[in-house]
Amino acid sequence: MTPPTPPPPEAPHSGVAPTHAAHASSSSELRPVPLVQANQDSAVGSRLRVHGWVHRTRSSGGIAFLVLRDATGQMQVTAKRDVLGEEGFARTEKALVESALIVDGVVASDRRAPGGHELRAERVEVVHTAEVFPIYAEQTEEFLLDHRHLTVRTRELVATTKVKAEALRAARAFLDQEGYWEVTPPILSGNAAEGGSEAFELEYFGQKAYLGQTAQLYLEALIYPLEKVYAIDPSFRAEKSRTPRHLCEYTHLEAELAWAGMKENLDIQERLVSAILHQVAERRKEELELLGRDPKELRSIEPPFERIRYEKALEILQGQGFDLRWGSDLATAEERAITLERTSPVFVTHFPKELKAFYMLQDPDDPRTVMGADLLAPEGYGEIIGGSCRETDIGRTIAQLEARGIPRAPYEWYLDLRRYGSVPHAGFGLGVERVVRWMTRREHIRDTMPFPRTPSRLLP
Ligand code: 4AD
Ligand code: MG
Repeated sequence: MTPPTPPPPEAPHSGVAPTHAAHASSSSELRPVPLVQANQDSAVGSRLRVHGWVHRTRSSGGIAFLVLRDATGQMQVTAKRDVLGEEGFARTEKALVESALIVDGVVASDRRAPGGHELRAERVEVVHTAEVFPIYAEQTEEFLLDHRHLTVRTRELVATTKVKAEALRAARAFLDQEGYWEVTPPILSGNAAEGGSEAFELEYFGQKAYLGQTAQLYLEALIYPLEKVYAIDPSFRAEKSRTPRHLCEYTHLEAELAWAGMKENLDIQERLVSAILHQVAERRKEELELLGRDPKELRSIEPPFERIRYEKALEILQGQGFDLRWGSDLATAEERAITLERTSPVFVTHFPKELKAFYMLQDPDDPRTVMGADLLAPEGYGEIIGGSCRETDIGRTIAQLEARGIPRAPYEWYLDLRRYGSVPHAGFGLGVERVVRWMTRREHIRDTMPFPRTPSRLLP
């Protein structure tokens, strides 16, 4: 496989505040340079402009030492009273943490500064003087979550957010190269596809509607014109369970593939996951290291992933003392036990049909089971993908709806897909935050979401 074309490592730094530049009468020709570019040997001796937010500040004897932060990195700025003048220096000294500055100066080497260079300020414009920033170490988790709109600026959340963006870029690049069309299914629907009890209900002009739990049914409709489709959407689950891997709103990457069976479905999943891991390992090395993940561990994961049948998984778990029998679901503890000692993901296939959704195809060789698989991440992280071959026969689809007591009327449109050109097809849904949690070794999935939605949290 040729690797997907890598996008630029950082989004182009287009936030070049022309309005601010216009204020700077003496040096209006300077355009702001990202800190990562300023904090480099090649910049030593250059006169340049940076802008950013104060990360740390201290002052003594007429010199202020600031560390500035922007989207690309950090850099030390030294500001001297005898260069800035009494008034300019006083304003700079008063710029507390998170104040916004524009600084013109000359880059010099300084081994003690973060990144090895500092900017010796010739002019400092304080764009905004911040109030005392309420976020500091040793605050409670609750306090930090209440101030998420501010804690998104912290190093760990910035790193996780960049890893997630990279994972999405990698997924899009890979699926594009594989010939998939990105489509935009609805979030609001009259169907509750994955099970009515976990769907958020709302009123829609006097009708009952649901927030989407999956785009699958709509993706199935779109394989007829497009054959290979995917969507990256929010999905909603009204899960009361407070676990470190459930969110009420998460990012769902779903794909659907015409003319495909179990083999093609698992094949595309393991190649997609590997492409994501490899691109993230390659391009977000620093972020991974900051978060405690060795990029080599992700780089070393390659297809094919091991496949084990549900029946075999039960045996393994029974051997570890779990009290399970045919028909028991594999919950968090069971998935953790299966994957704890592994370093690579594993597919668990052929679950009992009662455990899975109405649309899954029964295995003709073992009709107690369905042709579906969950992909479990190693190191105890557990399920990251759920997927299956879909039932294509209209009679059996109706029977499965009835067996689950699901009213047929809202699914009439879906049954039409089995009336006009029904073909073997399969698909899957990948929980983006689940994958990011694993890659970044986060204890709780909420730390892979800038603004997590859990049962007790709707603000900020
Ligand atoms: O296994 P699920 O429920 O499968 C489906 O929704 C299928 N219709 C997808 C498809 O075939 N198109 O969900 C798919 C994935 C899970 O494997 C998990 O990674 C993630 O979505 N997921 C959640 N992630 C975070 N919080 C939750 N509450 C999640 N529920 C599912
Ligand atoms: Mg699942």
